[in-house]
Parts: sequence; C-alpha cells; structure tokens
Amino acid sequence: MAYTAPKLTDYSESTLNEFTADLLKHLEAEAAKVDDEATWKAFRDRWMGRNNSIRVQVKEILLKAAPPAEKPRGGALYNDIESRIKDRVGRAEHSYKNVRPALNEALSSVFPAVTFPRLDITLPGIRRPLGAEHPVIKTMNEIVSVFRNLGYSVEEGPEIETDYYNFEALNFPPNHPARDTQDTLFIANQESKPLRDRLLLRTHTSPVQIRTMEKMRPPIRVVCPGKVHRNDAPDATHSPIFHQVEGLAVDTNITFCDLKGTLDHAMKALFGSSVKTRFYPSYFPFTEPSADVQISCIFCGGTGYRDGSRCPNCKASGWIELLGCGMVDPNVYGFVDYDARKVSGFAFGMGVERIAILKYGVDDIQLFFNGDVRFLEQFG
Ligand code: PHE
Repeated sequence: MAYTAPKLTDYSESTLNEFTADLLKHLEAEAAKVDDEATWKAFRDRWMGRNNSIRVQVKEILLKAAPPAEKPRGGALYNDIESRIKDRVGRAEHSYKNVRPALNEALSSVFPAVTFPRLDITLPGIRRPLGAEHPVIKTMNEIVSVFRNLGYSVEEGPEIETDYYNFEALNFPPNHPARDTQDTLFIANQESKPLRDRLLLRTHTSPVQIRTMEKMRPPIRVVCPGKVHRNDAPDATHSPIFHQVEGLAVDTNITFCDLKGTLDHAMKALFGSSVKTRFYPSYFPFTEPSADVQISCIFCGGTGYRDGSRCPNCKASGWIELLGCGMVDPNVYGFVDYDARKVSGFAFGMGVERIAILKYGVDDIQLFFNGDVRFLEQFG
C-alpha cells in the first residue's frame, strides 16, 4: 500500500514526532527510487501536487483538523514538513538529471548493461527534532498567566539599570547596609558619573515598579517578569543569573488583606488548592510592613515528616519560604510623584527558578543553565 499521511487522534509532542519521522522515512524511500524524468514527476506530484498530494493531506491533518489550541504548533510543523518535501523533490531532480547519468556511465563501464546495481548516492535529510519551551520560561509564563487572569498586565524593564532605579528610588539610600543584601555586579569605569547614573546589572525586577509608576497613574496592576543578576557563586541553589516575577498593585484603599488574598490565591493556583500560606515578618527598604511568604511544604503536606523521617525539603518545619512582599513604602511614592495620603498598594517578587525547582522536583539550579538536552527534553 502506498503511504498516505495518517489521521491523528491526539497532537501530543510524541505523536507529532512519530508522525513526522514516519513521513520523512517514506519521503526518503520514495525519493531514492527516482531515476528518470517520469519517476521524478510522479514523485513530485504525489508529494507536492495541488490536489490530494501528501503535502495537502498533512496540511489538512495539522491545520484544519487540529483543535484550536494545537493549531500554532501544527502550523509550524506543517511549514517545516512542506519545506523538507520541497527540498527533497529538488534534490531528487538534481540527482536524476546530473548525478544519475554520470553514475550510469561509470557503472556501465564496469558492469554489463542492466545487471548493474541500483545505488542511492543522495544524502538522507538532516532530522531536526521539535524544540520545546525551556522549563524556566514555561514556569514564568505560568506565573504571569495566574496574574493575567486576575486582570494584571505585563510590564518589562531593562536588565542594565541605573543605581537610581535599582536602589535609590526603591528607598535604598547610598551606602545603606540594605544594599549589601543584594551582591551587585557593577559596570566598570563609571566613577566619574554621579552615583545615581552609574550602570549595574539589575539585582531584582523591583526597578520596573518605579518605571511603571513613572509612566502610569493609579489604578495599577502589573506583573514584571525578567532576568536578574547577582554576584553569587554558582552552586546547587545559587546562580549569578536567575529570573523573577515582580507584582505591583496601587490604587485607593488597598490593604494588606488584598495582598494576602492575592498571594494565597496565586500559590494555590501554582501548587494546588490544598497548599496553605503563611506571612512572616521581614524587611525590604521599599515595602512597609514587609513579609516573606511561606507555603506549606508540598513534599510532606506540611507535617514536617515523610515516611517516618524528617522531611529534607522543609527541614522538618512544614513550611517553605518562597517570596518577598509588602505594602509599598510611602517614601517610594515620593520618588514617583504619587500622593502617599491618597493611594496605597502592595508589591511582591518571586524567584522563577525556585518555583520551578519545587514544582518539578529539580535538585540543582545549574541544570536550568547547562543546556543539556537530556534534562531539557523532559519538559517538552
Ligand atoms: N525585590 C525583592 C528581592 O529580590 C523581592 C521583593 C519584591 C520584596 C517586591 C518585596 C516586594 O529580594
């Protein structure tokens, strides 16, 4: 039976990979049989023709028949398959027109006419497997979508920041010891500039709070995903590059209750509805009061013990610390010309890798940055 593209009942990554591999195998086998104009034309029309060709079947299956959510992926795969078919048809033409006659001539000088063997001297195509979202980006998108569903919009800011946005406007005065909590990478040779203009790699996404408040007036509800940098030596739990998602809500009459309700909802959306949250007093210069949010340990169900021994993930405490938050400090409003007597708001910031590590049970943050496909393809 001649090959036809099989209909699909699911559009999972593995099914699509299998579908593609099978199709390419047949494409290759049929291309190898082309040896003159007639067989090439038949091959071309069967795979590329306008009606009923395998290309048209693939389009039908990957685009028209696919459920709406699968269409972008199906469309991308269709484009890829179409270009491979075109490429293979082109190479088969080149082969029968140019390579085959030369080969026949060479063979006929060695073998008596027809007895000579059929040889396929074309190279097989290079297989490029489908890529997938990186687990950090996947987790970041997931966090952002939890807040999008609450009506938040997305803001971004530069990774190379000034001292003013990263520290000063966030109420870290020059030389204040709070700056030491974020080991900062500064750009060299800027001593001639005033401190506030000196460039550094942002140590957190909080400067986007300031940039957002400078350009928008309340009501504000934004999340700011992005990459941040700290001068930390890499180990299983530290990386000089990592990602955060910042949140900011400013309006009239926003209270700590709103902050608690919002983050409790977000943690349940990310880790499951049975997760509990606890707000623990903390300190950040730009929020007052400030808190660290802890979630009940997802490994031992918050009991502190698993299989009769101490839970290593929460050190038997039953709680895991996850993010920082607080009510926007009134001093910060002074930097962006908001009237601290009229508005109030909250902010929070969470580490994306930390959340991904917990969600997927990853034991070393370095795995996210090594680019080892054997690790990454598990998230495909
Ligand atoms: N920017 C803080 C940090 O990186 C986290 C934070 C964000 C705390 C917003 C409070 C409010 O440690």
